Amino acid sequence: MKTIREMALAGKRVLVRVDFNVPLDESGNITDDIRIRMALPTLRYALEQKARLILCSHLGKPKGKRVAAASLAPVATALAEMLEQPVRLAPDCIGSEVEALVTGMRDGEVVLLENLRYHAGEEANDPEFARQLAALAEVYVNDAFAVSHRAHASVAAVTAYFADRKAAGLLLQKEMDYFHRAMSEPVRPLAAIVGGAKVSSKLGALENMLARVDRLLIGGAMANTFLKSQGIDVGASKVEDDLLESARQILARAAEKGVKVFLPVDVIAADRFAADAVCKQVPVQDIPAGWMALDIGPATVTLFSEALADAKTIVWNGPMGAFEMDVFSRGTMALAHVVASAHALSITGGGDSNAAVKKSGEADNISYMSTGGGAFLELMEGKTLPGVAALD
Ligand code: 3PG
Repeated sequence: MKTIREMALAGKRVLVRVDFNVPLDESGNITDDIRIRMALPTLRYALEQKARLILCSHLGKPKGKRVAAASLAPVATALAEMLEQPVRLAPDCIGSEVEALVTGMRDGEVVLLENLRYHAGEEANDPEFARQLAALAEVYVNDAFAVSHRAHASVAAVTAYFADRKAAGLLLQKEMDYFHRAMSEPVRPLAAIVGGAKVSSKLGALENMLARVDRLLIGGAMANTFLKSQGIDVGASKVEDDLLESARQILARAAEKGVKVFLPVDVIAADRFAADAVCKQVPVQDIPAGWMALDIGPATVTLFSEALADAKTIVWNGPMGAFEMDVFSRGTMALAHVVASAHALSITGGGDSNAAVKKSGEADNISYMSTGGGAFLELMEGKTLPGVAALD
């Protein structure tokens, strides 16, 4: 993969695909600007090289229509503050007005195109939409790791129009390098922590992990399906009954491969899913009938921290419980402290995991927090991301 550092940028119009899909509150304020900040090294580098920067991104899912709430206007304002220079928001991402705007750009200027998903051609990977986007620039840079698992026009089809004038940005390169260090050439023992709500959304990742990791720690609601597959009565806990057999097979395959699997041994059980629920800490064998497991318990935290004690590489995706409610957050918070203090390369990915790490106050002590959600998971599944393949 060529990187932006190998490209001649001076005086060129450079189209940079960024992922500025940031969360907004009801008033349109950005509630987490990490994705914008993570793109800054690439943007600053290109500006130092005297490029004319044309940035493009999606925001939300406007599904081919102009939706005011999905405008990139708040991002343009935030970015201008971070770059300490004006950022012009284009009225659209393609079309004659945009062409006129970018043709008049001077070296070192920044234009942010309006939401790519205002056009159905973006998600359809439409070559004609991609051609119009490509016509705006002379060089293409993909720095949008978090959307590189989507074969959408601005990450896939557009690259066909740039021949060898396309490259990875510094963030995309960093994400791929960290993941490669963790999964392809890990310093062992390598431990994966997989949590979150559903086995179904992590099945591919779990299967691929089995071929790579030394230890697999499973928590969160998905652990219930594994526990039930082993004959444990998990009460009214969330379980995917149709995946009990898959869970059994994963455990059997792990045993064949010598991968050590760690499941919760105790949980915080509650009589209902509510912040004011009645809760108690019980061994997994003692979840009361009608109650549900909503966090891992302290014995599990101890078990997991022992399983991670000598790990040299840790990859974490998915929380250990319903951590958004304080009452069910202790397990995930404790695990975040364990991972943060491990003498290991630690990588977290996925919106929930990163939110949990932030809530724990340990964000600075994790080696790398990926900006990817779906993209990170697809790498865990062993897939090649279309946006990365397109740069080859
Ligand atoms: C993300 O937030 O994970 C990426 O920006 C991709 O967004 P999407 O799931 O709407 O395609």
